[in-house]
Amino acid sequence: MERSSKTVEDFGYFRSHVMKMENKMPKRALQNKEKGRRHIGRPRTRWMDPVQKDMEAKGADWRRVAEGEVWRDRQEWKRMYQTTRRVIGSIVYCKSSALNHAATKPGFRVSQTVVCIPAEVYTLSFQGWVRAHRKMKDIAFVDVNDGSCSEGLQVIIPKSLQPQNLSFGSSVEVHGTLTINPNEQIEMVAKDIKVVGPCVVSEGYPFAARKVYPPDYVRQFPHLRPRTKQFGSLLRVRDAATRAIFELLHAQGFVNVHTPLLTSNDCEGAGEVFLVQPDSEVLKKEMAKDGKCPEEAYFDSKAFLTVSGQLHLEAVARGLSKVYTFGPTFRAENSRTRHHLSEFYMLEMEMAFLENLSDLSTFIEAFVKGVTSKVLEECEVDVQTLLQQQVSKEGEHFTLSELTQRSFVTVSYDEAVSILERHSGQLESRVCRGEDLSKVHELFLVKHCGGGPVFVVEWPRKIKPFYMKCVAGDTNKVAALDLLVPRVGELCGGSLREDNYTVLQQKLESSNLDEPLAWYLELRKYGNIPTGGFGLGFERYLQYILGIQNIKDTIPFPRWPHNCKL
Ligand code: 4AD
Ligand code: MG
Repeated sequence: MERSSKTVEDFGYFRSHVMKMENKMPKRALQNKEKGRRHIGRPRTRWMDPVQKDMEAKGADWRRVAEGEVWRDRQEWKRMYQTTRRVIGSIVYCKSSALNHAATKPGFRVSQTVVCIPAEVYTLSFQGWVRAHRKMKDIAFVDVNDGSCSEGLQVIIPKSLQPQNLSFGSSVEVHGTLTINPNEQIEMVAKDIKVVGPCVVSEGYPFAARKVYPPDYVRQFPHLRPRTKQFGSLLRVRDAATRAIFELLHAQGFVNVHTPLLTSNDCEGAGEVFLVQPDSEVLKKEMAKDGKCPEEAYFDSKAFLTVSGQLHLEAVARGLSKVYTFGPTFRAENSRTRHHLSEFYMLEMEMAFLENLSDLSTFIEAFVKGVTSKVLEECEVDVQTLLQQQVSKEGEHFTLSELTQRSFVTVSYDEAVSILERHSGQLESRVCRGEDLSKVHELFLVKHCGGGPVFVVEWPRKIKPFYMKCVAGDTNKVAALDLLVPRVGELCGGSLREDNYTVLQQKLESSNLDEPLAWYLELRKYGNIPTGGFGLGFERYLQYILGIQNIKDTIPFPRWPHNCKL
């Protein structure tokens, strides 16, 4: 592969995020890292900007907990520190009674739990679901979670206020006073509590209080699993990663493009498309045209669910330069593995004037690390919740810091195959030069190359799609890359695109695509430019950073062969 003309530092914005993470690494984490131990890190405190703004507008006197400013006295700091370790989410500190007003306004979320100086208390209402319920003689304790963070808020209910139908799983609305208990924990003393929706567990509710279930059990209840602590964490991390992607790409000048889900092309040419047609036979008859088959009745051509928005992005990149799309992608393949879905989310981007494959790999490395840093920074506690479950089960250890600090390795396809040939004794399946790599091969390569992400570049032309550009001086190889990562295997696939009109024309003709993709060829006719880009499987990305074994546990409602529940 050609030498990169750019370094990770050239993508400064991403880099600054990585740096931020590194600087924030607690001393203990660094020590653990040196000793090769796994360190998850401790919850940090922080508050949400909108709340802060709101408070400041009201003249509140704020101190930033997260930055560890000087506290009025040690005792106060200790109290703050211990409390914030337990109540996780956005924690704010305020000396002003202005907070009273804000805390009682509708829309309070547990993640905004406020900490007050001793003797000050706040009255507010909130809603959520009972995670745990413990009855004592005169009082009951309920742990109420509202989904805004992984922790719940403990509510103390005097006997006289306890509703009959209050139980684990029920939804409640609580009105009460926030206070700090003798164990330095924030809790609420209820003044009023209403059961919004009861939950009779004995009637078939699949979960019980304080139990952690294996993911394959929870997966049987896709409609109820958002109530579990682990899946709640997953959904918040998924949300944070989505936002990180948008923010980082926006900061780099990329334009988000909504590529169509219905399309007439099979971009990858692998025949893995789902055909789309009206369900109504009456409609198809009504719309039928001479010379068209019934599947073509509606659009005058066959239509499919998209397998990739790349070809559309290539059109838009020739006008907007840096573009991306992030949306559902469909593959009709009979793969029932831990890494395949029939519907998954793919981030695809396309960059104009890109001539060098190593510029693309450098960009990908900086981007993946930047997104991961942002996610770890924002969702430390949720990430911790998920890692605890996964790591203890599989016994696989990895440090969060290695996700953002380890350099990615690059090997050519030929080198990769040679490595696999040399170690064929350790592999379940043999590798064939000129053919695709299996998951076993991918994961072996990752381990062999140091255990971090590996780019495999310059692939045989015949096993890759028609749109890839040939390597200069070797028409049997294409300027393509796959990014292989630990635990997952292939995370990204990308390439430089064939931009030579005549070469592309020949390729299209030999695949009988010249007619349907005449528009694609025409892109090379007017104001043509070199472009390149890649696609990243979002669910596989979540598996990679969270150590999630099965891809079906990374998406709210998974679809795979024989399964399209709900
Ligand atoms: O390697 P793929 O097929 O590349 C493309 O579709 C290109 N057109 C992208 C581009 O250059 N714009 O898919 C990209 C990534 C894979 O590396 C993998 O992570 C993910 O999409 N992926 C899947 N994820 C879950 N389930 C499946 N069935 C997947 N198939 C691919
Ligand atoms: Mg691929």
